[in-house]
Amino acid sequence: MPRKVSVVAWGVVLFVSWNALLLLYLMSRPRGPNPSDLTARVIRLAEDAEAELEKQRGLLQQIHHYSGLLNRRPPPRRETRAPPSLPRLANVSSTSPSPTGSIPLQVTIPILVIACDRPSVRRCLDSLLKYRPSLETFPIVVSQDCGHEETGRVIDSYGSAVTHIRQPDLSEVPVPPEHRKFQGYYKISRHYKWALNQIFMTMGYNSAIVVEDDLEVAPDFYEYFQASLTLLHQDPTLWCASAWNDNGKEALVEGGASFLLHRSDFFPGLGWLLLRELWEELEPKWPPAFWDDWARRPEQRRGRACVRPELPRTRTFGRKGVSQGQFFDQHLRFIKLNQDPVAFTKTNISYLLKEIYDPWFIGQVYGAPRARVEEVLRGHVLGGRTVRVEYTTRDTFKALARAFGVMEDLKSGVARAAYMGVVSFTHKGRRVYLAPPGDWTGYDPSWT
Ligand SMILES: *[C@@H]1O[C@H](CO)[C@@H](O)[C@H](O)[C@H]1NC(C)=O
Ligand SMILES: *[C@@H]1O[C@H](CO)[C@@H](O)[C@H](O)[C@H]1NC(C)=O
Repeated sequence: MPRKVSVVAWGVVLFVSWNALLLLYLMSRPRGPNPSDLTARVIRLAEDAEAELEKQRGLLQQIHHYSGLLNRRPPPRRETRAPPSLPRLANVSSTSPSPTGSIPLQVTIPILVIACDRPSVRRCLDSLLKYRPSLETFPIVVSQDCGHEETGRVIDSYGSAVTHIRQPDLSEVPVPPEHRKFQGYYKISRHYKWALNQIFMTMGYNSAIVVEDDLEVAPDFYEYFQASLTLLHQDPTLWCASAWNDNGKEALVEGGASFLLHRSDFFPGLGWLLLRELWEELEPKWPPAFWDDWARRPEQRRGRACVRPELPRTRTFGRKGVSQGQFFDQHLRFIKLNQDPVAFTKTNISYLLKEIYDPWFIGQVYGAPRARVEEVLRGHVLGGRTVRVEYTTRDTFKALARAFGVMEDLKSGVARAAYMGVVSFTHKGRRVYLAPPGDWTGYDPSWT
């Protein structure tokens, strides 16, 4: 602090002396060659003044710059966002070798909480605040749509622990008549666009974790995302990290493998990290509704994958919502939230980088003995703890998925949690790869 104060003081002294010298100079300078030419003199004076102003502006900028540099924690200092004259600090994170998953310097990752009319957002915020290791590193921004007063009061009750912003446009979205019942989805899409623009454009952050108001988080939620951020910077074939495993039910996950992460071609949402670059890419074409299924289309995904955990780091407690009533009862309430924290930032997770993961993954899947579904279900499998069950058509995939209790729906041809067409889960302690034949060439978007 004293250093900072002295630099600022020096700056001020410099600034004042500059002005004093300038005044002396202007007063003592000889008259122009043609004193009677008033117009020319006025123009000269104006030009001089402008040049001086320019110099002074530069000086002030320098003062500002240096005091900013010494200020290690300016209120929300954006993640690795450096003043323009510095070498881009972002390079530190994107190029740091960090094979051990070491964290980039001075990173800030805001949590964007999408809220509307559910006062139960309290449960979400309580859980986010319970595990938050640092307010500076993880500022929480709650974006509220819908103008719901009670929900607004709940958010405000957290005071300075969170930032409350309000989506200003509460009007109905014009929709085609046959979509009138989907009005809610249009408003959600509009809200996401506005809120993400606030985070990236208005507030200037370089990354964000998006969380909906009906999610609660695991103790190592922040560790997971902080470590994943490094991966996203390193690997352009990753476009998100998600806290969610669509098949994260107790019976389908390896209980002791909290540390285990995967790549997924399916965009899971439900607590997910993205970089500014992705938002800049998606924002101009952001859809009026159903943004998540839109994001899953090949034109948006462009072959990119997300990181997802074996054990979920979020769980939804909400039932009320535009889509989730029945789905919650049948499925979501069985999702297992990880309770065994992993220090991901101190763990080597570079195995998720494409060039390391893909050959390993192919070897695992197609090196595993092939078994028939009945054999696996009955536990009559000879050999290892890993097996492969193959599907060839959409219908066999669905039938097999149903038999094992994994999600059977497909979006743009991609099954939930699938990677290279393979859905990986456990069945009675055995790792099962539900996989297409080895000569698989890609997803078929007509599989729905
Ligand atoms: C960032 O790192 C890349 C790769 O090492 C390098 O080519 C580039 O010049 C760096 N940019 C800056 C601004 O330092
Ligand atoms: C981290 O893991 C990667 C891939 O598994 C490996 O190549 C690298 O050597 C590991 N780094 C350290 C420091 O152990």
